[in-house]
Amino acid sequence: GKVYVGVDLGGTAIKVGLCDENGKLLHTHEGPTGAENGAEFVLDRIAQYVRLIVDQSEHSWEQVAGIGAGIAGFMDIPEGFVKLSPNLGWRNVAVKKTLEEKLGKTVTIDNDANVAALGEAWSGAGAGIPNVVCYTLGTGVGGGIIINSKIYQGSLGMAGELGHLQIVPDLEAIQCGCGQMGCLETVSSATGIVRMAHDAVARGDKTSLGLIQNITAKDVFDAAKAGDEVALRIVHRAAYYLGRSMASLSVILNPRRYIIGGGVSKAGEILFTPIREIFTRYTPEQAREGVDIVPATLGNDAGVVGAAGLNLPR
Ligand code: BGC
Ligand code: NA
Ligand code: ZN
Repeated sequence: GKVYVGVDLGGTAIKVGLCDENGKLLHTHEGPTGAENGAEFVLDRIAQYVRLIVDQSEHSWEQVAGIGAGIAGFMDIPEGFVKLSPNLGWRNVAVKKTLEEKLGKTVTIDNDANVAALGEAWSGAGAGIPNVVCYTLGTGVGGGIIINSKIYQGSLGMAGELGHLQIVPDLEAIQCGCGQMGCLETVSSATGIVRMAHDAVARGDKTSLGLIQNITAKDVFDAAKAGDEVALRIVHRAAYYLGRSMASLSVILNPRRYIIGGGVSKAGEILFTPIREIFTRYTPEQAREGVDIVPATLGNDAGVVGAAGLNLPR
């Protein structure tokens, strides 16, 4: 039968997956993005991984009926470009054309968080629910808006760039990788959480985080769970802006469910409880009726499943 390849290109990792005609994930292969080596290198690596995953399976290259790629950055889908990727350091990269030349097959592209949202909508936490909004909290903050079970791309594919919602007040805002001030990503990504931890340590705040060599977002959550007040404040700040962003989205889109994925979402209740509290506090009762906020269930696979699914007949 036919098989479909999905590529998930994030700020830290490239993941490639092979799916059957029913969207079932058969194999995956993963490695570091190596963004510091430039776009050509990264696209080469993607092409290598795509060939590898097919070669190592019992399927032939001829059986590959579609290749889809989700890419972390501002898209121009009609032109096949990534216009800007804050976390890959890319500007105007002709992703579609380059991959098609390297692979000799048509490649469908979309944003990484859009395809992750699609994966969750089809077979994850959004299965059976037509209208959902998905956040991915990792190196950056990604977003995907699913309306009537389809990705809402906007005019060029930049819809759902939730990481760049303007939300932190000017007096507290810092600059984002996109060039703007006050983006959600500056406070609610793993990178933002780690930065707030470093700031606290540098200020001399009394915290166990001061004893850690290379602070990660997980360290901050662990410290918060252990009762560290400074770490708790950082987690609450990340949660506060997520909750408020959902309050705004609810009066714009009225989704039935918010799904939160990405590495940071593994923190669990310490993150979800304050998000739900803030969402409830700031959303009109009528706009939050029946709305819930839940963790993603496909984990690290959402992106490849959604990307492979871009070409699946549904
Ligand atoms: C980018 C998005 C991407 C997200 C997660 C953000 O900085 O602007 O396009 O979806 O990071 O990778
Ligand atoms: Na998006
Ligand atoms: Zn931004």
